[in-house]
Amino acid sequence: MKMHKEEKAKVLAKANGPIIITGKFVFEDEDGSTQDAERIVLCRCGESGKMPFCDASHNRVGFISR
Ligand code: FES
Repeated sequence: MKMHKEEKAKVLAKANGPIIITGKFVFEDEDGSTQDAERIVLCRCGESGKMPFCDASHNRVGFISR
């Protein structure tokens, strides 16, 4: 039987944009509900209309991450 390398999730802080998480992980929302996920895009500008997810509002507000 061939062994698979352990897969690790990757967290990418996009310049002037969201945090993108890819890989296999469990997402737990603020209400405690959980779901298996492989990609999620989280807002870090604070202006999204669908928190905690990015809705591209960072472009409209000119979010600068540094
Ligand atoms: S980072 Fe995209 S809406 Fe906030």
